[in-house]
Amino acid sequence: MKVLIIGGAGYIGSHVARRFLDEGFQVCVLDNLSLGQRENLFAEAEFVEGDILDTVTLESVMARGWDAVVHLAAFKAAGESMVKPEKYSVNNITGTLNILNAMAKEGIKYLVFSSSAAVYGEPSYLPIDEAHPAHPENYYGFTKLEIERFLAWYEKLRGIRFSALRYFNAAGYDPEGRIRGLEKNPANLLPVIMEAAAGWREKVQVFGNDYPTPDGTGVRDYVHVTDLAEAHLLSLKYMMDAGKSLTVNLGSEQGISVLQMIETARRITGKPIPAEIVGRRPGDPAKLVASSAMAGKLLGWKARYSDVETLIRTAWKVYSQISRQAVRAT
Ligand code: WQD
Repeated sequence: MKVLIIGGAGYIGSHVARRFLDEGFQVCVLDNLSLGQRENLFAEAEFVEGDILDTVTLESVMARGWDAVVHLAAFKAAGESMVKPEKYSVNNITGTLNILNAMAKEGIKYLVFSSSAAVYGEPSYLPIDEAHPAHPENYYGFTKLEIERFLAWYEKLRGIRFSALRYFNAAGYDPEGRIRGLEKNPANLLPVIMEAAAGWREKVQVFGNDYPTPDGTGVRDYVHVTDLAEAHLLSLKYMMDAGKSLTVNLGSEQGISVLQMIETARRITGKPIPAEIVGRRPGDPAKLVASSAMAGKLLGWKARYSDVETLIRTAWKVYSQISRQAVRAT
């Protein structure tokens, strides 16, 4: 099986590339390295440095013939998307249309697409299932929802099957330590906590402790990136076996609060991890937890590495090793 993984040098993309290589697939990674990193590349996978907005490169790579495409190349900072919507329109939407058009031209029939729980917006009930209304509250989530609509049309008109994987909060690192690229300027909670534990950041700012949750801080459904990678593989097999597209939530179905994450990290790392309660971040819902029953039913998927201990332990294994290297290097 020959698979093109677009965005395969990124945090999630590299874990997907690893899983597909472990399955014995022939993998080519196409990435512009704007967010992805060379250290996330594997010797067994071919690498093409290219941008999904460069249709000449994209079409020449696509013309080499692939059984399937996995597309994780997107900008994903919800806050930034509200101040720079143009950047998200062009890269996320136009970039994906370029991919779909190149696939249609080459008759490639399977696309695994990285979608997001951000399509839902403020929850009207919990846990969130796929029938929940989709009213994105940020432009990033809007781009993901609009792309899902394009996918439905390209299936109808060009026979491209798709799996739209609505990730909740991706976290953790490969338990075997094979992936070590750190996200650049992270805004997400766990990398921020890890940077504070490693001493690269003075403290963690807790965005509000007056939410209607047990300890007042935001509750999220964190899902291990290795569990996400497994779902990418299972969804491709499902499309090929069942001849159907699917849209599924990928979450642990467990809610963890900001303070729980910080306290668990202090225990596991042995570091103080200073934290300061500050004001709420605009647009943050109090609680987001997935129902992943559909992924369980269709794919037999279940999160296996997404307990808070494993999320933090696997992340700390990477951050602590790099911080030691950094200290030695100084
Ligand atoms: C988690 C919790 C914050 C940082 C975002 C995107 C979403 C998806 C996942 C791609 C919240 C709190 C955070 C900090 C904090 N991305 N927090 N201090 O906002 O749930 O989702 O990432 O698909 O589209 O919106 O993730 O990690 O930013 O926040 O208190 O320094 O941690 O308020 O409760 P979020 P997050």
